[in-house]
Amino acid sequence: MVAGGDALARGDDGKVVFVRGGLPGEAVRVRVVESKKGFSRAEIEAVLEPSAWRTDPPCPNVARGCGGCQWQHVTPEGQRALKAEIVRDALRRIAKIPEPPVRETVALPGTDYRTTMRAAVHHGRAGLRRAGSHEVVDLDLCLVAHPLVEEMLRDGRFGRAQEVELRVGARTGTRVAMVDPNARDVRLPGDVVVVGIDEVRAGHAAAYSEVVAGRTWQISAASFFQARPDGADELARLVVEAVQPHATAVDLYCGVGLFAGVLSDAGVEVLAAVEGDASSARDARANLAPSGVDVVELDVHRWVAPGPVDVVVADPSRNGLGTRGVDAAVSGAPEAVVLVSCDPAALGRDTQLLGAAGYRLEWVIPVDMFPGTVHVETVGRFIRDPANGQVTGVTAAP
Ligand SMILES: C[S@@+](CC[C@H](N)C(=O)[O-])C[C@H]1O[C@@H](n2cnc3c(N)ncnc32)[C@H](O)[C@@H]1O
Repeated sequence: MVAGGDALARGDDGKVVFVRGGLPGEAVRVRVVESKKGFSRAEIEAVLEPSAWRTDPPCPNVARGCGGCQWQHVTPEGQRALKAEIVRDALRRIAKIPEPPVRETVALPGTDYRTTMRAAVHHGRAGLRRAGSHEVVDLDLCLVAHPLVEEMLRDGRFGRAQEVELRVGARTGTRVAMVDPNARDVRLPGDVVVVGIDEVRAGHAAAYSEVVAGRTWQISAASFFQARPDGADELARLVVEAVQPHATAVDLYCGVGLFAGVLSDAGVEVLAAVEGDASSARDARANLAPSGVDVVELDVHRWVAPGPVDVVVADPSRNGLGTRGVDAAVSGAPEAVVLVSCDPAALGRDTQLLGAAGYRLEWVIPVDMFPGTVHVETVGRFIRDPANGQVTGVTAAP
């Protein structure tokens, strides 16, 4: 399987063919739909010898062309095995680790889970785009959406908007819809806080709340938050386990303060929480006020630790830490770096960069946050390994 969720095969001429909907080890007859110099793309015409992991997609919208979930045709067990293999493969190929220390995947329920969903709007109805197309499939039901999101997808009317982000607090019942470019002529159930992107930019406050790890989090419409609370519980648990028993930590890319908050609750002294987005940083300040954590609104690329720290937690966006994120993460010469990553290729690149900075991957745990899709989250623990590479920073090991 390749990172986008297609299966990799080879034509008679040796050319790579990406097969949408294919699975390893099975025989399928395909139709080539795109041919480029180095590779082709193909769709399945018939499955001749199915994989044991192939199943009928449980969601009827797959047959209607909905591109929201790439792997509805794969059993839950098969999805977990394939995602773990994608993580292993990235670490082998990109980070050059022959036997990557990938631990068992954390499984989560596969339906009704998604509490944040960005939808396209077509003729006033919300829907998801067809795979590889701009065409919108409107949705009356969505197997993976939380019922409170599904209700907004089904019953919402969004005027002349182009896109809408639907978000709910599954454990508080609060919800918000952020409409692009404005919220004119939008109809939604009365409890939903509706806000246009134009109003958010003008400073209008709109928020919902969610309970994760026993705390209630304030989340503004434009702030990042994990897309399911049970998955956020698992990430928080793994991050705390990866940090303890260390005494001090820094939370880079802190969003609304999730990891800084749970670490403080677990008795770790969080020296700083760094976030570049103004909306998330504002929420983090409100959420972390009872813990007394210093929230720094700053591009992580410009962060330099003011002093030594035991552990750095970093949860960057899809492109990962990169060179400058790694420089920031190791600037306090921590004993360990805990990296939460939402893209296996970025994990591979960051593992390679952290290795060059003197940090060796001790273990990584995939968390299957988004069953039905190819996406996988990971939590990895890197430990300072003075025997291998250069350690930079204020208290670099001798
Ligand atoms: C994947 S989210 C993680 C948030 C938080 N750890 C959580 O679990 O809710 C990444 C966060 O990093 C922030 N971010 C992305 N690039 C950044 C940068 N260069 N500097 C600072 N923050 C950044 C985003 O605004 C977002 O809030």
